Amino acid sequence: MSLDRIRHTPAQVRLTGVQETLLAPLYVRALDNRAPQPVLGDTHAEELMRHLDYDFRKMNFAGRDRRTVPFRAKQLDEWTAAFLRAHPDAVVLHLACGLDSRAQRIDVPDTALWFDVDLPAVMDLRRQLFQESTGYRMLAASVVEADWLAQVPGDRPALVVAEGLAPYLAEADGLAMLRNITDRLQGGEILFDAVLPWTRHIARYARLVRQTGASFGWAVDNPRDLEQAVPGLQALDEWSMCDSPYADRLPPRDRLVLGAMRSVRPLRYAYRLLRYRF
Ligand SMILES: C[S@@+](CC[C@H](N)C(=O)[O-])C[C@H]1O[C@@H](n2cnc3c(N)ncnc32)[C@H](O)[C@@H]1O
Repeated sequence: MSLDRIRHTPAQVRLTGVQETLLAPLYVRALDNRAPQPVLGDTHAEELMRHLDYDFRKMNFAGRDRRTVPFRAKQLDEWTAAFLRAHPDAVVLHLACGLDSRAQRIDVPDTALWFDVDLPAVMDLRRQLFQESTGYRMLAASVVEADWLAQVPGDRPALVVAEGLAPYLAEADGLAMLRNITDRLQGGEILFDAVLPWTRHIARYARLVRQTGASFGWAVDNPRDLEQAVPGLQALDEWSMCDSPYADRLPPRDRLVLGAMRSVRPLRYAYRLLRYRF
């Protein structure tokens, strides 16, 4: 699962809307890696940035997320790695992968099968930078359609991980995606970040959303609501970034802010991860 295909000439980035949003977390992972004590320690992000023809000054504002977004990515990496340790023959569906190197950060056993999935324009770019191998495939598809799932073996334990996707989907599409996954695959876990309804409403003012033309469509209030909407889904965890064990690496002022947020549910869970079994 290497980055063998990293090019000598920069790859043109012609993404707009929700697809362009992938450049923000990529930039944040590179910033995290430059920190004296990185949380994620993703060395690929910087390398990938150097091979893109894109003006990352447009993403300067996202720099403030370097103190929180890596917490979320790290938690998703740890849940994914734990699932793979328990199920080395698993199939992993990394939805809306963007230019994330999750499969390269995690120690994926040779017996597992990993699919990185994103929209066709993103996959065209990704294919210029990443190399497929026996256990690592890249699929160009909209994850809200059902047809791409036919390419995924349905008889293995499945781990579905989607970072930075759900808020950008319409609610009906998000639910259809979950139903397709639980219908088609044998069983496993689904991990994703979901915003609360109030966060969705203020998202229209968020710089990334305004700058790219993307929009927020789906919010999840009570994680148990999805158990009603998607047969077979069982809520396991609601994880707040305020609870990250890496929060002690923050400067004292940020630690104080996180501490205050922790005591108010709408703030504590404004940006959180949900973990389900199916
Ligand atoms: C904020 S970026 C997150 C990228 C990546 N997960 C990361 O953390 O670096 C959102 C991603 O969702 C993808 N996306 C949005 N709607 C999608 C859909 N219907 N099917 C597949 N990917 C989608 C975009 O193309 C983009 O790569």
